[in-house]
Amino acid sequence: MTHSELIKQLFLSFHSKDDDAFMQAARAYIEREKRKKHTIVAKDLEKALYQTGSVSRGQKRFKSNPPIPRDTEKGFPLLEIQHFDVDFEALLLAERTKSQLERIMLEFKDADVLATYNLEPKKKILLCGKPGTGKTFSVQAISSILHIPVVYIRFDAIISSYLGETAGNLRKVFDFIENGTWIVLFDEFDIIGKNRDDHHEHGEIKRVVNNFLQMLDNIKGDSLLFAATNHQNILDTAIWRRFDAVIDYELPDEATRQTLFEHYLKPLKRDKNLNISQAAKQSNGLSPADIKMIAIEALKSAIIDHRDTLSADDLESAIVQFNRREQVKRGNV
Ligand SMILES: Nc1ncnc2c1ncn2[C@@H]1O[C@H](COP(=O)(O)OP(=O)(O)OP(=O)(O)O)[C@@H](O)[C@H]1O
Ligand SMILES: [Mg+2]
Repeated sequence: MTHSELIKQLFLSFHSKDDDAFMQAARAYIEREKRKKHTIVAKDLEKALYQTGSVSRGQKRFKSNPPIPRDTEKGFPLLEIQHFDVDFEALLLAERTKSQLERIMLEFKDADVLATYNLEPKKKILLCGKPGTGKTFSVQAISSILHIPVVYIRFDAIISSYLGETAGNLRKVFDFIENGTWIVLFDEFDIIGKNRDDHHEHGEIKRVVNNFLQMLDNIKGDSLLFAATNHQNILDTAIWRRFDAVIDYELPDEATRQTLFEHYLKPLKRDKNLNISQAAKQSNGLSPADIKMIAIEALKSAIIDHRDTLSADDLESAIVQFNRREQVKRGNV
């Protein structure tokens, strides 16, 4: 086929949402470039084509998504589909945590190779650790790298509905997940553990939670599932053993805190007497989300003051304000 015929083929297959025809035309185009010894272009195109993990994992991207499942009673959506473009480099974690995440992605990408040895990639991952340490952010970064959207499970909508509906709601959610390749996020997962142990609750909730765990055990498909919690102590062993991997998030050390301050203060120039290493030293116990909040507050002080340089005072005031807020939170005021 000529150059223009191939391009036309690509357009037509896009229009008719025919994934197979699209892939065929795209591959033919790459082969054509290779024959013409345009090796760099061919490699680049190949990379772009196969980067979309979902295509190589057999998901039909062009078929429109099935409708979002909703609570029968109130019509609330039971999940949300979210798209992210987060830079993995912006995620600052302990080396051990980051390499665990990278390993999960490598196994996911190489699922076909593992299968030839009768092995499976890790698919159910529990993320635990203090608030604001990057659990949710990590899932967003992984979604960005793998080019697979996040299915964010709305536990509130599933569980708060009329109890008789809950089991049906869960089935709808799992049916949806099993019909595609997704990064699934069960955020604030402790709600499951909490309800399971709550003796004041009606026995039916316990039944629903057990039902959920069974569905989790038997889930089919290629999706990568993450559950995140900052109350891991609430989860009992029966829940823990459902997961192929557990990744714990630590508070950042001094060097990481310094990098976090630098990263989040980057939008403005900094005054010479603004001492970031001092701020990093004094912020022991703060999470990356706390540091981000302080940095944003400091930046805003300079901006609303129409200054293009951040002063030492901007940062100091933001830290004082943050500490005050923490004291209020702990009831020390
Ligand atoms: N490790 C990190 N590196 C860089 N930025 C981070 C990191 N952790 C958190 N942040 C920033 O803080 C924001 C909030 O973090 P995130 O929602 O991921 O925390 P979390 O661990 O899920 O907390 P929670 O347990 O309260 O849900 C992120 O969107 C990001 O901007
Ligand atoms: Mg979170």
